[in-house]
Amino acid sequence: AKARRERRDRLHDLLDRAAAYYARYLWESAEAAGARDYLARRGLTEETLRTYRVGYAPSAWDKMLLGSRQAGFSEEELLATGLAQRSKQRRGSLYDRFRERIMFPLANARGKVVGFGARAMRDNQPPKYLNTSEGEVFHKGSQLFGIDIARRAAARAGSIVLAEGYTDVLALHQAGVQNAVGVMGTSLTEEQARELERTARTLLLALDADRAGQEAMVRASRIAAGRRLELRVVGLPEGKDPADLIQEEGPDAVRERVARSVPFVAFHVDKILTGSDLGDAEAKDRAIAELRPVLGPVPPSVLREELIRRIAGRLDLSDQLAATLLEQSAEET
Ligand code: CTP
Ligand code: MN
Ligand code: MN
Ligand code: MN
Ligand code: MN
Repeated sequence: AKARRERRDRLHDLLDRAAAYYARYLWESAEAAGARDYLARRGLTEETLRTYRVGYAPSAWDKMLLGSRQAGFSEEELLATGLAQRSKQRRGSLYDRFRERIMFPLANARGKVVGFGARAMRDNQPPKYLNTSEGEVFHKGSQLFGIDIARRAAARAGSIVLAEGYTDVLALHQAGVQNAVGVMGTSLTEEQARELERTARTLLLALDADRAGQEAMVRASRIAAGRRLELRVVGLPEGKDPADLIQEEGPDAVRERVARSVPFVAFHVDKILTGSDLGDAEAKDRAIAELRPVLGPVPPSVLREELIRRIAGRLDLSDQLAATLLEQSAEET
């Protein structure tokens, strides 16, 4: 057990040093001038970038490698942390995994760096984001970007805001929404949901307002179901993410939208109504069939009444008929 702990501490130490190295490189190297410009153009301040320990990986193939070796770390440790990888061609020597990228350290809830998300600065060097691969220290499925920084604010507010991306979390934080974490593009996992549940009672979904983001919110609601998490949705302009909104409309705009979040079920009803063809009776029946299980768990309440009225309006039915059609039939419950 002692050996295991020592091993883990060394790997964390290596990752922390790497984060510090990349951060210093961002602020001090001539090579990173373009990256500093890029981040400034995206509206991110030095204070925000330093809070999240954002850095820059040089274009060389071995700078991290050489520095880490000099500090006494082994090739094996460099591989285990995902900082280096072994080349297939040239007699299997190691090279730096992250090059010419903006580095977002991924920390666990205690602030220990466990991996990196690395953004290309141009669209012609895919992938847009290269992350540490799954390994001994990094587990993407249990990671929430920014949880170490958001934890206190989330506990204080009783709510936590879930965004998709790294830049969304930074921009939200900078806009005063300091209880923001990132799901890092993937679907919310059970492990992430458990961590969120431990942190706050209310989960405000602020995923991208594009098709992928909206679908991901519906999947997240299934993962959150049955947990002590009240789910709400932060409405964003069509096609935008929180960072876009903040850049285009300023910090107040996002704070207002967070304050005007809606219950998940209202978002879901609107999503179905907007996405459905309501052209004829059969299409309306199909929409009703899709809406019925969504309304099912909503107890008699003003909210339920309002949703039924909205559906009735869109389907051009009386409120009474819509209510009847939306009742769960005995076979379905
Ligand atoms: N992501 C990833 N790998 C990719 C694309 C995305 O890991 N190839 C993750 C990243 O965590 C990213 C998040 O998914 O932040 C959301 O993806 P996307 O919306 O495409 O990117 P943005 O966060 O909006 O990035 P940016 O604003 O920098 O373009
Ligand atoms: Mn582990
Ligand atoms: Mn997206
Ligand atoms: Mn996005
Ligand atoms: Mn974005």
